[in-house]
Amino acid sequence: METGAWNEAIDRMLIRMRDTAQRVGNSFPHWADPESGQWTVTADGDWTGGFWVGMLWLACCGTREERYRQWAEQWAERLRARIDSATVFKAVPFYYGGSLGHILLNDSLGRALAVQAAESVARLYNPALGLMPLGAEAEEGSHVGPAESSIDSLFASPFLLWAARETGNARMREIARSHADRVIELHLRENGSFIQSTSLDPQSGAAIRHYTHKGYSDTSTWGRAQVWGVLLSVMSYAWEPAETRWLKAAERGADWWIAHAPSDYVAFWDFDDPRIPHVERDTAATAAMACALLKLAALADPAKREGYRRHAEQTVDALVRRYLTPTSSSDPRVPGILTEGCFNKRPDSRSHDKRPDSRSHDAVTRHELIFGSYYLFEALHILAGKVDPKKI
Ligand code: GLY
Repeated sequence: METGAWNEAIDRMLIRMRDTAQRVGNSFPHWADPESGQWTVTADGDWTGGFWVGMLWLACCGTREERYRQWAEQWAERLRARIDSATVFKAVPFYYGGSLGHILLNDSLGRALAVQAAESVARLYNPALGLMPLGAEAEEGSHVGPAESSIDSLFASPFLLWAARETGNARMREIARSHADRVIELHLRENGSFIQSTSLDPQSGAAIRHYTHKGYSDTSTWGRAQVWGVLLSVMSYAWEPAETRWLKAAERGADWWIAHAPSDYVAFWDFDDPRIPHVERDTAATAAMACALLKLAALADPAKREGYRRHAEQTVDALVRRYLTPTSSSDPRVPGILTEGCFNKRPDSRSHDKRPDSRSHDAVTRHELIFGSYYLFEALHILAGKVDPKKI
């Protein structure tokens, strides 16, 4: 596809964004029925709300239309209540909802919210474990105890590395580095695949068991575990270019993905579900991997860059052609919906969540997911030459 085609896909997604802004009121879009376009929303943003704000920052950056910045600031402000929540996963909403606004647009509100949240994330650091555990209010994991880690939590490292650079906070930088070292080492398997979660001994910090609460099994490779491993390792490396171990981890994970992805590029929800191909895809994981590959195409061993770029382009092309509405000439749906995201195939995975607002309704498959839309939108902006993949 040429730049014009990437821009055409961006325009479609902008239509859906304007539609979403009208539909969700003061809440955050979480996931939507791809037929009706109706969103299930969260009041506080959960772990996904920042992706909506991130799309708005990107839209302002790409179009230079101030209305997107105004919307981004309005929704970012609504994240403020979560600055001190006891969860490592708040790194996600505050990176995309705050830091990204500052990186792309020098936005001072985004910066202020994200710096405060980063100081709070750093206070979750446990020296005995060498990392930030999930936390008592962790979305999708508050039930698992105080010494649990997951590859999803690696978001905290690029977030704190950004904040440490902004503030000159050397201690925060050390915490972010230790977290990245530990989380990558705990979850990257010998063969280049990633496992989602680990229980640690609270005293020694030693790994007790590896498991997944969202993938098919403890020995399978859940698509998003692989994505978070690659994407967040390369994002951490982008802030700390001396840490070539993190780049190597990202390359190994990306090579594993390329070797195991379906020939049509769009991953199934778990690479080891025995019912493949009669099982759900995950376009959200696939879109996020495209972003990871585009970052590697700018940062990896020069001999490998072209291969990463090519796979990313083919992946985004497949997502746009087959999964972004309209998917046929008679498709009546709102343009710009990314269909076939698999939020959570295992209905049991949040059933033990002790938070009062815990929702079992995240057990949706074949839906539009706000984080999948964010990553497709980011990938399209990189491919269209509107943003530098090394910076975000
Ligand atoms: N917990 C992040 C995810 O579901 O991918």
